[in-house]
Amino acid sequence: DWNMEDVLEEQIKHVRSMVGPDEHVICGLSGGVDSTVAAMLVHKAIGDRLHCLFVDNGLLRYQERERVMSSFQNELHLPVTCIDASENFLGKLKGVKDPERKRKIIGEEFIRVFEGFAPKVGEEVGISPSFLVQGTLYPDVIESCPPPGSGRNHSHTIKSHHNVGGLPEKMNLKLIEPLKLLFKDEVRQLGKFLNVPESFLKRHPFPGPGLAVRVLGDVTEGNALNILREVDEIFIQAIKDAGLYDLIWQAFAVFLPVRTVGVQGDQRTHANAVVLRAITSEDGMTADWYYFDHKFLIDVVSKICNQVRGVNRVCQDITSKPPATVEWE
Ligand code: XMP
Repeated sequence: DWNMEDVLEEQIKHVRSMVGPDEHVICGLSGGVDSTVAAMLVHKAIGDRLHCLFVDNGLLRYQERERVMSSFQNELHLPVTCIDASENFLGKLKGVKDPERKRKIIGEEFIRVFEGFAPKVGEEVGISPSFLVQGTLYPDVIESCPPPGSGRNHSHTIKSHHNVGGLPEKMNLKLIEPLKLLFKDEVRQLGKFLNVPESFLKRHPFPGPGLAVRVLGDVTEGNALNILREVDEIFIQAIKDAGLYDLIWQAFAVFLPVRTVGVQGDQRTHANAVVLRAITSEDGMTADWYYFDHKFLIDVVSKICNQVRGVNRVCQDITSKPPATVEWE
């Protein structure tokens, strides 16, 4: 158990020692806890020599881009450039079904966007940034590629988290990862010292590859992404309305590329099945499924089937981690 004030001071010193007095740094922000805290820390260390960008990769949740950009502006008061790269990401993902391939493509594409952003900043400030801030946490490191000598005996990668194992081998930017030794609850504590608003610190984790790991198989097929967005929004809103959001580590919906037969308004339907998943956890390394009461589930399922075209069946995932992982891919 470390004192987060000491960690903060130490990391600020470390960042200053890495980045020369005339050098600049870029940081991709997702709107989540990790990248926000990492950015605020680096901002504290080097001030306006930090340049943040938010990438719309076409894999975001319902109205996420608008919501996140407005909270950067209104709550964090941090200048952030928004880049719409959704066509690049979705283009590259077309026809790709393998989960690890999807993760690698997305990790690589993020880096290409960052590498394109750096020289643009360079045109403005006179020198192209050569550093990239990542909000990598200790569990990401362990599960993507266990550090040698860590005493952990994973003999292979569980999955390539995009900010670690999913990065391309060739990359022109040097990484700054100030949270690399921390667990999520420690990052939340650190965020308090950096005056990061509660609304950011309490946000459920959302994976870097976004909805791509929640639309199983080819994410570009049919209207899958939009259907998933609508289902997910209804589920999360219901959780918030019931006052359950802060009791749950993470909740989300998954789109199955499976059609089942249903009957809606006297009509036979042949539509998709979706899954609801909610878990509690300490650090994301292990997790238990969350027990909703009947009334909550009945209401959510009926809302989803009534409001979302293309869905006629809702399942709940009641598997813990292990044996499952949190995400389905
Ligand atoms: P898994 O599915 O590995 O998820 O049990 C554990 C936690 O990590 C999140 N997750 C990711 N976060 N980049 C991230 O930043 C990723 O590639 C990624 N994959 C999974 C997941 O949502 C859960 O909170």
